[in-house]
Amino acid sequence: MRLFPDADLCRRPKADTTMITIEFLADHLDAIPTLIKWFRDQWPDYYEDLSPAEMEQDFLEDVSRNSLPSRLVAFEDNALAGTIVLRENGGTMPPEFRPELGGLYVVESHRRRGIATELVRAGMKLALDQGYETVFATTVSAAGILEHLGWEFIKTVVHSDGELSLYRCKLYNSA
Ligand SMILES: CC(C)(COP(=O)(O)OP(=O)(O)OC[C@H]1O[C@@H](n2cnc3c(N)ncnc32)[C@H](O)[C@@H]1OP(=O)(O)O)[C@@H](O)C(=O)NCCC(=O)NCCS
Repeated sequence: MRLFPDADLCRRPKADTTMITIEFLADHLDAIPTLIKWFRDQWPDYYEDLSPAEMEQDFLEDVSRNSLPSRLVAFEDNALAGTIVLRENGGTMPPEFRPELGGLYVVESHRRRGIATELVRAGMKLALDQGYETVFATTVSAAGILEHLGWEFIKTVVHSDGELSLYRCKLYNSA
């Protein structure tokens, strides 16, 4: 059973009449230069050794729809607003903690309007649609969003960036 149409994962009209739409990056390759700029601005240390061309190549690897890695992009009233990726666990965690939702970002002017929440929700549906029963994430800043969506804290993990919280979501239980 498909949970959503191929190119339109989630549409939710908000009370203030703006529309949040979640779609595959595969259908919006023109978004990649903006994503590169956002990520370089947000995580300058992490990306300082990568050229924009190398980052573009990385984003182009996220354009699968039916397998990992698969990146989604969010629009608010047709303006690009954010992104998330369903992927392997990045090599930092044991293989049993896969797949993970990561690379979550919402541009500052669109924050606190529920867009990250919708991206995570769409990522959960995507994981389910790809046949996974459980999905993971490590985060600090998105912990509240995950907990509101029913994710379960597993443990604190030490990462090169510091301590992160590892969360799990059993998709059949939370859907
Ligand atoms: C973390 C991040 C993705 C959150 O994006 P966002 O779109 O603002 O997230 P949401 O709007 O869904 O939720 C954020 C908060 O706003 C609240 N909120 C949601 N809709 C709201 C609304 N209409 N009005 C007011 N608050 C709202 C949520 O309850 C949530 O509260 P909480 O933090 O206390 O749990 C964004 O701040 C970001 O990109 N930060 C920089 C990169 C980063 O840290 N990424 C995460 C790496 S794991």
